[in-house]
Amino acid sequence: MSNTTQKKLFIQTLGCAMNVRDSEHIIAELKQKEDYELTDKMEDADLILINTCSVREKPVHKLFSEVGSFEKVKKSGAKIGVCGCTASHLGSEIFKRAPYVDFVLGARNVSKISQAVNTPKFISTDINHDESEYAFGEFRSSPYKSHINISIGCDKKCTYCIVPHTRGDEISIPANLILNEVKKAADGGAKEIFLLGQNVNNYGKRFSASHEKMDFSDLLVKISEVNGVERIRFTSPHPLHMDDKFLEVFVNNPKICKSMHMPLQSGNTKVLREMKRGYTKEWFLDRALKLRSMCPDVSISTDIIVAFPGETDAEFEDTMDVLERVRFEQIFSFKYSPRPLTKAAEFTNQIPDDIASARLTRLQSRHNEILDEITASQKDKILEVYFEELRANSAVAGRSFNNFLVQVDGSEELLGKTLKVKITNPKRMVLYGELVG
Ligand code: 5AD
Ligand code: SF4
Repeated sequence: MSNTTQKKLFIQTLGCAMNVRDSEHIIAELKQKEDYELTDKMEDADLILINTCSVREKPVHKLFSEVGSFEKVKKSGAKIGVCGCTASHLGSEIFKRAPYVDFVLGARNVSKISQAVNTPKFISTDINHDESEYAFGEFRSSPYKSHINISIGCDKKCTYCIVPHTRGDEISIPANLILNEVKKAADGGAKEIFLLGQNVNNYGKRFSASHEKMDFSDLLVKISEVNGVERIRFTSPHPLHMDDKFLEVFVNNPKICKSMHMPLQSGNTKVLREMKRGYTKEWFLDRALKLRSMCPDVSISTDIIVAFPGETDAEFEDTMDVLERVRFEQIFSFKYSPRPLTKAAEFTNQIPDDIASARLTRLQSRHNEILDEITASQKDKILEVYFEELRANSAVAGRSFNNFLVQVDGSEELLGKTLKVKITNPKRMVLYGELVG
């Protein structure tokens, strides 16, 4: 319930889906335990939070420019808190660089948010803090889908990646807690369940207390049996753990959405070895092409890093080759960015920025051409769309089972429904269509 004396919270979230979920947990805790309500006007807020990402250098710069601008316009007496991965990695350095920050709360320390708000200059950045059994309050940004964490941290030590240093070792959340959350979400009307973890298909490797043996495929099956669940999505799986059992459950379970994120990073086996990814070009191609043959409608998305230290022109061509063969429906591509605490940052063969930029441009331009062909081929297809978003000019949008964004003319009565759409005008970002039947 909102009233004029209620304290107001403004929260800005950078980074990945894990951070979005951490922000939902922070909001739930502050609403229920500290009586805050959300505002989207920073000037009105009594508490301003920024939930940060440190996976590349850019978002870290953004943190300091953002908190600087908050300090200038915030209401007198309003507090500023820095949360998330950059809080974990910079710790008390944040107080030094931005002395007006009131507290620093690392990723994996979200359950301490009440304490942080109520303790002057609070700091907690322990990356081994175990929140895997903590019962967070309920808050969902969308009534139509629910994001649920299944594991925290990451055990891989990819040599470019700061995440294991900000989110710590991997711990799986007990299956009964996950299933309770799924049931609550489905009872509350969320037909889509979005499972989150740094490395979801490594689920079950380690629990903090004794637990029956269970892997990600088993968990997917259990979740699909919950009444009211119609769609299951997840991110991110690791190509290394895409065994046959996993691919079979993915393809054959009718509730699992047919879109797979397969972070390639590089198409060259030597570079993959230096990245410590644990698979080869051939393994990746075998998994992706097997998936395409088992499930012709699947969408495959990927993450690619160009100009990893030492990457030669010929090695980069292997990445282009994988792009040609897999024809990803979506790519997220980045120039390598050296990160503190990581092995690759110390490699002496860093690639000049002009070469990195040229490779990125080439990759993205070729992918745009592929995407134009994929998009054009969607014309006249009939897709099942779960509508979840009102758009300007009396339009409603949602995702197809294989993750294309689809838009039709319509109003709120379409929201929360799954309907058949004929694609009439496919564009790169949105497939426009008409309801059929
Ligand atoms: N430089 C560039 N991109 C990176 N990523 C992770 N670390 C780096 C880095 N140091 C990318 C990877 C990962 C995605 C989330 O961010 O592609 O999958
Ligand atoms: Fe980083 Fe690798 Fe873990 Fe992904 S799997 S978060 S790339 S260390």
